[in-house]
Amino acid sequence: MSQTLAPQEQISNQAGQPVKELPHVFDSTRLTLVDFLDVDGDIMERARQFTGFLDDARARGHCHYRRVSVTGSGPTIQVLDPDTGETREMVYMASNDYLNLTRHPRTVAAGIEATRKYGAGAGSVPLLGGTFDIHIALEKEVAAFKGCEAAILYTSGFGSNCGTLLTMLTKADVAICDLLIHASLKDGCGNTNVEYFRHNNMNSLEKVLSRCRDKYRTKLVVVDGVYSMDGDIARLDRIVELAHAHDAYVMVDEAHATGVIGENGRGTPEHFHIEGKVDIVAGTFSKALGSVGGFIASRKDLINLLHFYARSYMFSTAPTPQSVASLREGLRVIVEEPELRRRLWDNIDYFKKNLLGLGFDIGKSETAIFPVIIKDDLKVKEMVRFCHDHGVYVNPVVYPAVPRRLSRLRCSLMATHTREHLDKALNTIEDAGREFGVI
Ligand SMILES: Cc1ncc(COP(=O)(O)O)c(C=O)c1O
Repeated sequence: MSQTLAPQEQISNQAGQPVKELPHVFDSTRLTLVDFLDVDGDIMERARQFTGFLDDARARGHCHYRRVSVTGSGPTIQVLDPDTGETREMVYMASNDYLNLTRHPRTVAAGIEATRKYGAGAGSVPLLGGTFDIHIALEKEVAAFKGCEAAILYTSGFGSNCGTLLTMLTKADVAICDLLIHASLKDGCGNTNVEYFRHNNMNSLEKVLSRCRDKYRTKLVVVDGVYSMDGDIARLDRIVELAHAHDAYVMVDEAHATGVIGENGRGTPEHFHIEGKVDIVAGTFSKALGSVGGFIASRKDLINLLHFYARSYMFSTAPTPQSVASLREGLRVIVEEPELRRRLWDNIDYFKKNLLGLGFDIGKSETAIFPVIIKDDLKVKEMVRFCHDHGVYVNPVVYPAVPRRLSRLRCSLMATHTREHLDKALNTIEDAGREFGVI
């Protein structure tokens, strides 16, 4: 079905000039987000065209973004049906809440208690009054958990990665990045030189390191510990070895690794038994730790510098007392309740075995993130619609987020998913795969 939009009235740009006549049909099966990066006309015109595209995608049942939950995160959630306005229960496979600490009674109770004691917000930026005793305590606890001298807290993981890199690296330096690092890291390289190496490919990394050897002042290799769209693990032991042999530092983003991998959930350095050897350990509080915010753990001197130069730290209000208290309790839960991580890993093993048994391509997934690679954007959108219609909440990942030949469904697991939830998801994905000729 192709939706024809009503003809647009003639509109003008800010300078009062009429804008170019536009196509009245935005066929979202042929267009992608890339097509709206640079269109003829000013920003309002660009927004109008993009809205046409979005309306078409919605009319086809291909837009599953910003679905509204009325219950918050959990193995199942109640989601508003945009057509009927009614709520519907869905098995939730679209979060990063791997241990479901968003709803753990201990993290929830700690957050409520801190709100009563300290109020709803920090009230100021951290350098000018927004630093409370609980912020200092969390900094120390994060540093200890990550085996580093010190840590700095940011109000978002994105701001943490981006602001830290923008502060550390200038035009005399170079960031040597895995091709698949997160957008927050890529955006942080805006002030410096950037060289990419092929994803998790050590020969490629070595070549780039050799090429950069005497050219730059600071050389920093930047990787994710666990890759957010593929669920594979960086070969961090080898990366650190190669980087240090070439006088480069290593920064690893532990967003999807913290609480999930390593014997005690301490992440990728623990997984490879190289704790203390990674120069800069970054992470978010928004995934397995179940709240919001980001951190950098490293040498004390670097943390001191970030306190006074990282703009996304200095000019942003400190994390809320609720989030800080919930996070402190969350770190304790990770240490004291290892059975949560064991349940997550039981689920990972079960889901992986069954998806492979059904004949799906799940790439190199090794953790709680499962790409179900379909290689066709339109089929991905149709399969996601099918899954949502049958009560299973998975995400579409299509071009330009990934190359078209790698478009996929993204499923993520939680420790609190039961076998029943997993079976429902597996059966539904199987039915979708058969319906659209994927398996
Ligand atoms: C690998 C990675 N790093 C950083 C971030 C940003 O973290 P936050 O959502 O806490 O801002 C994300 C995503 O949300 C991520 O997937």
